[in-house]
Amino acid sequence: MTVPPDDWRARAQALADQLSDQGDITDPAWRRVVACVPRHVFVPAFYSDDDPSELVDATDPRWLSLVYSDDTLVTQRKEHPDQPGMLWSTSSSTRPSFMLRMLHILDVADGMTVLEIGSGTGYNAALLSERLGPSQIVSVDIDPELINAARARLADAGYHPTLIAGDGARGYPLGAPYDRLIATVATERVPPTWVEQVRPGGVILADVRPRGMTWAGALARLTVAGDGTATGPLISCTWGFMSTRRAVALPGIPESAPIDTSTTHTRTSDVGREALSTPGLSLLIWQQLPGINAFPGATTTRITTPDGSWATVSDDTPAKVEHGGPSDIWHHVETAHTWWITHGHPGVEAFGLTVQQNRHRFWFQTPDCESWPQS
Ligand SMILES: C[S@@+](CC[C@H](N)C(=O)[O-])C[C@H]1O[C@@H](n2cnc3c(N)ncnc32)[C@H](O)[C@@H]1O
Repeated sequence: MTVPPDDWRARAQALADQLSDQGDITDPAWRRVVACVPRHVFVPAFYSDDDPSELVDATDPRWLSLVYSDDTLVTQRKEHPDQPGMLWSTSSSTRPSFMLRMLHILDVADGMTVLEIGSGTGYNAALLSERLGPSQIVSVDIDPELINAARARLADAGYHPTLIAGDGARGYPLGAPYDRLIATVATERVPPTWVEQVRPGGVILADVRPRGMTWAGALARLTVAGDGTATGPLISCTWGFMSTRRAVALPGIPESAPIDTSTTHTRTSDVGREALSTPGLSLLIWQQLPGINAFPGATTTRITTPDGSWATVSDDTPAKVEHGGPSDIWHHVETAHTWWITHGHPGVEAFGLTVQQNRHRFWFQTPDCESWPQS
């Protein structure tokens, strides 16, 4: 369907007005950008929220109003080879309010260059191209099919930024140094390449969270120092991006490693499974248990760590804890919980992150704070 310009322009303007009214756009430059980028060009088809097996495209009367709504539109789903029959979202056009919130935090200015990790549909690359000029923008996605589609759609809309198919963890050194790097896909680690490819004083904005734990992370706004480190505050983000894929064919979900239940210990705990999704506390738990994966069920959640330790924790009070493997990992959750209570239930914004090479160090209130719970 060809959408008459009068029609999409009115809808794009209405979306820009809505985002301004909601407080997601405060900068008039971004209001203009949202009003003049045709989102419908980037999402010719997406999966219905009501029935994820149904594709909504231009033949569907709902299509255009959904395109110009403040909603995430899932555009690609894949099966994990180990879990036949289950489909996971592997690409989407992110909810515009969240995208615009990030673009404001990124704090761009005329003349800046930006590296985007996670091109997806190309819509965000179009927003950046409209704001800064396409020659200032490089965008990378692991999926060559998505890159080809995004490149064609960007060209249709009149933008020609540099689009690269490859693993975003490598960045794109040929375009470096960048003034800004924005990752629109969640990562457990800020790779050293990102720090190397952003100029000193430049900013990295990334959604950092344990693999697959969309409810347990934060946005990190890191300023690059020039000595191989990047440091900055964490910003609350209750529901983040899908996790990075390690290969094109694999959705970014945690692989459920086999666990040994031959020796299972049972006990109770005053700390229930809700600790895992409590803002602030979930960061401390992650710091205590690097490599944690969580598998929530209806009434229990199982957590695992790379050394083969596991714990399954119920909803009850006190919570029933079953655990096995080399250590009682729920004990680490309890330690983090005690520290968090003692320090006045700090939220995400009380914390920050310093990255140096492969080391991630979360801190409390100031970068030199080392007062972490010891296990
Ligand atoms: C939420 S979508 C990005 C939305 C996009 N910015 C837009 O405006 O449509 C996340 C994207 O990250 C990509 N991705 C996942 N793992 C990646 C990786 N390792 N390197 C680069 N891109 C990756 C996915 O293919 C997906 O397209």
